[in-house]
Amino acid sequence: MKTILVTGATGYIGSHTCVELLNRGYNVVGFDNFMNSGQDVLEKISKITGKSIKFYEADMRDKEKTEIIFKENKIDCVIHFASSKAVGESVVKPLEYYENNVGGTFVLLEAMKKYDCNNIIFSSSATVYGMNNESPYTENMPVSATNPYGYCKVFIEQILRDVCTANKGFSAVLLRYFNPVGAHLSGLIGEKPNGIPNNIMPYICNVATGKSPSLNIFGNDYDTPDGTGVRDYIHVLDLVDGHIKAIEYSLNNKGSVEINLGTEVGTSVLELVKAYEKASNQQIPYKIVERRAGDIGTCYANSALAKELLGWSAKYTLEDMCRDSYAFIIAQNSNN
Ligand code: UFG
Repeated sequence: MKTILVTGATGYIGSHTCVELLNRGYNVVGFDNFMNSGQDVLEKISKITGKSIKFYEADMRDKEKTEIIFKENKIDCVIHFASSKAVGESVVKPLEYYENNVGGTFVLLEAMKKYDCNNIIFSSSATVYGMNNESPYTENMPVSATNPYGYCKVFIEQILRDVCTANKGFSAVLLRYFNPVGAHLSGLIGEKPNGIPNNIMPYICNVATGKSPSLNIFGNDYDTPDGTGVRDYIHVLDLVDGHIKAIEYSLNNKGSVEINLGTEVGTSVLELVKAYEKASNQQIPYKIVERRAGDIGTCYANSALAKELLGWSAKYTLEDMCRDSYAFIIAQNSNN
């Protein structure tokens, strides 16, 4: 069976990916510096699957350590999640973001080159569609960004395309995610941001569990059916399935390809709040506040290419996403 290296293995999407890779019989090597996660995630992965990943506590920027991982394991394909991911923080700390996200990717790509590993699945984002395209987004639209986090995604995508041009044996699948939410059905792993959440679902979860008094809704004057922002929320388990299908694609195809992973369904903030209230049987009080700088009104995917190339489409509904996010947060709170 193939050996897959997962960078950012204990993070939100990384941990769910490790579980599914193990369930499907892959050998999994993982690394993480626990910047936004904890050691307990490794135990949870083992508890869910009855198997374990071969784990290295390492920082991607550490060339020596990164090379050791390739030296000690014959890696067939890398799934590259490791990165700093808070949009607002990236504006305040641009150098840290470029160093960690872009610099770390350099170190990884150099190690891959040295050890002749020619397959990578990259965790990109719908953020690369910027402010000037209209939904539904298709992969051939021009890319841009409005903050260092977004530019890191734009730059890394370009670096990977350039590597593919230079090395005809190299394969890079650039997966552009829309808004990942939800959690594993076991309730053991899910999204657990450090500090105040940036994204809406963890914030709603905090309100549901009484950690925050109410949700601030950033603007109700967008050009959308109810005025609040519309996004394409996607269950993390659907996202993981897309990654695993991308491995097989990568192993059979050379060159670079950009692929959207979204449900093609736009949901407004108010619709999300309503769905969450129904799934959790909890009231989510909210206040309408000013728009958040850099936000756009509407963002959802055209995912036809994922269907065509990977045979992938999203299966989970908004109700499933709300139910599983809530179940995870309740399970977490009862364990603490
Ligand atoms: N929102 C609120 N209140 C909050 C948080 C968010 O009303 O407390 C609204 C936003 O204005 C937006 C929607 O909820 O309309 C979703 O916001 P998120 O912060 O959850 O997600 P974004 O769409 O802004 O960004 C997410 C990821 C990015 C990624 C992008 C890709 O955070 O990393 O999707 O589309 F780049």
